[in-house]
Amino acid sequence: MLIKKRRKHGEVQGPARRESPEKNAVEKTAWRPGNVLSPAPALLVSCGGTPEWKPNLLTVAWAGNVCSDPPLLSISVRPERYSYAIIEATGEFVVNVPSLREARAVDWCGVVSGREADKFAATGLTPAPALQVLAPIVRECPLNIECRVRQSLPLGSHVLFLAEVVAVQVSTALIDAQGKLCLEKAGLLAFAHGEYFTLGRRLGHFGYSVRKQKVDQVKGGQAAEKGPAVQAGRSISPRDAGQRTARSLIPSRPVPSPASRRGAGGAAGHEFRRRKPRSAGPYSRPKR
Ligand SMILES: Cc1cc2nc3c(=O)[nH]c(=O)nc-3n(C[C@H](O)[C@H](O)[C@H](O)COP(=O)(O)O)c2cc1C
Repeated sequence: MLIKKRRKHGEVQGPARRESPEKNAVEKTAWRPGNVLSPAPALLVSCGGTPEWKPNLLTVAWAGNVCSDPPLLSISVRPERYSYAIIEATGEFVVNVPSLREARAVDWCGVVSGREADKFAATGLTPAPALQVLAPIVRECPLNIECRVRQSLPLGSHVLFLAEVVAVQVSTALIDAQGKLCLEKAGLLAFAHGEYFTLGRRLGHFGYSVRKQKVDQVKGGQAAEKGPAVQAGRSISPRDAGQRTARSLIPSRPVPSPASRRGAGGAAGHEFRRRKPRSAGPYSRPKR
């Protein structure tokens, strides 16, 4: 909205890097084509829970949101997985978004098959009823996304299940007094090139680059020194990396008058206003 308004008046400037071209130079080497897209989520997918199929868990990293309305996501599963037959037969599964506490279980469920073990019993994770599907949710995971398969698409090594989100369960411990979902408290996991990570420092909210641009415009050349370009390149001490918030990294800006706030579509006055977070795939070991 804000950015559209500015475009209309020809004012939009990108967050250009202000370092010299030599400093910007990044040397590259060519790799063979592969699944290097990172980070990917590390997810626990639960399935089964019908009279024919016992509940099972499978770790999935080749996954992602694919459509907002209707809410659709995809997971890609190799047909040789025990879970593949379950999902194919039942047309249902739950994507459980794990936290740091479930990291070991996530890895374990990704190397052991449900043909050999009861993964719920072995990991100590708790199967709990889902709202809309027969597959159980994993109670310990902060987010449970219940899915019904719309389409399965054989792609090669994997079959992509395109599924509709039919219900979502969220840990109440992550919801603050204002009703905001505080996912930063969850210690979410990411998977990048064969390794697990937790999400780190919060850098800003959706659209924050546009806000900083406004700071540059308001303060002119002086603020340019503190703009996004310099921050991106600046080194941050280990202490800061863990503790600094976006607020302390973004230069403070003058509080605009109510009139100027209205003039900028109401958006100018809430640089640090907490917004409803927007929801913003796979694993990198080549032969998994
Ligand atoms: C981090 C990680 C990510 C994985 N991602 C996928 C994936 O996206 N698709 C897949 O078919 N297998 C994936 N796997 C492998 C399966 O989780 C693994 O083969 C599992 O044991 C299958 O369980 P099941 O036979 O009980 O279904 C992944 C494993 C790990 C550790």
